[in-house]
Amino acid sequence: MRDSLVRIKSSLFPRLVFDRTSLDKHIEALTEANSEIAKERDSLLLELNSLRSMKGGNTFLFEGYDIPIDLMQLTGGGPDTFETISRQHTENLRRWIGLEPQHTLLEIGCGIGRDAIPLSKILTAGRYIGIDIIGRSIEWCKSHISAHNPNFQFYHFDVDDQLHNATGKTATTDIRLPADDQSVDRIILFSVFTHMLREDIEHYLREFRRVLKPGGLVYGTTFIFDDAILASARATNLTIFDLRFEHPLEEGCRINDPVHPLGAVAFTKGAWDGMIERSGLTYAKPNLKGAWSGFYSDAEDGQDVVILTRGD
Ligand SMILES: C[S@@+](CC[C@H](N)C(=O)[O-])C[C@H]1O[C@@H](n2cnc3c(N)ncnc32)[C@H](O)[C@@H]1O
Repeated sequence: MRDSLVRIKSSLFPRLVFDRTSLDKHIEALTEANSEIAKERDSLLLELNSLRSMKGGNTFLFEGYDIPIDLMQLTGGGPDTFETISRQHTENLRRWIGLEPQHTLLEIGCGIGRDAIPLSKILTAGRYIGIDIIGRSIEWCKSHISAHNPNFQFYHFDVDDQLHNATGKTATTDIRLPADDQSVDRIILFSVFTHMLREDIEHYLREFRRVLKPGGLVYGTTFIFDDAILASARATNLTIFDLRFEHPLEEGCRINDPVHPLGAVAFTKGAWDGMIERSGLTYAKPNLKGAWSGFYSDAEDGQDVVILTRGD
């Protein structure tokens, strides 16, 4: 009996090795074909979008959504960078704070859905709450993104803001975030703290402490400076926004343009430490290094990033 089993096993073994090898080859070929298809799709989309703009089109096709270019431009970027930035945002979120299908995620300053659209493929069993102060962007997100994804909800807050909503009637400090206490797994802000002053940031941080679940995480991009970083930013001038931060606003805070104070706001690490401590949050990880100033050769995101959690 044992001998015949050994005979069967040894006669099957070469067959199994052969099958496994040919399976591996098929997987490799499929992976290659897949990446070729993705490249082809990206270049066709690029061509389609440039044909549309040549014909005077005012929308941009992104993951099946026809996005109004004027609203897209209010995010500080246009059709040439929209897709790449969106992909980088999602990759960084996966890498640094992790995303799971059942997560509840709150995005502050969601704009026209540059992150919500890819997130709709990830948060399939969870919930997304996006808020912004630009009414038209939120209306667009509701009627396009929520229409296909009922678990994605968008809220407009009519905050008075010289840059994004000059006729607004309320203030950030009046906002109560539309989420129950301890109900949110992840909070994200891309290029939003960079347009806010200390009092408003501290209000949001206190709200984050209220709505975050224990163990929940905040990923917020910001400009963090010290003398060496400022010197590097001025010498390298890597962005299109001429970020020199020559104007001190208060201790630990500088603005780039006194005519448009909210155009770009930067803080020292010490100023961030104080805001975080006063709000009852704490750092979950060391800050990520931003590429904007040219100071770090091993930058991890375009802007610096604070990753926070509840302080208890
Ligand atoms: C540079 S855009 C980035 C948009 C989006 N995060 C993205 O990466 O596509 C900044 C966004 O923050 C929003 N914003 C500015 N101040 C805000 C505030 N106090 N509360 C909520 N959103 C705000 C603006 O309306 C704008 O949509």
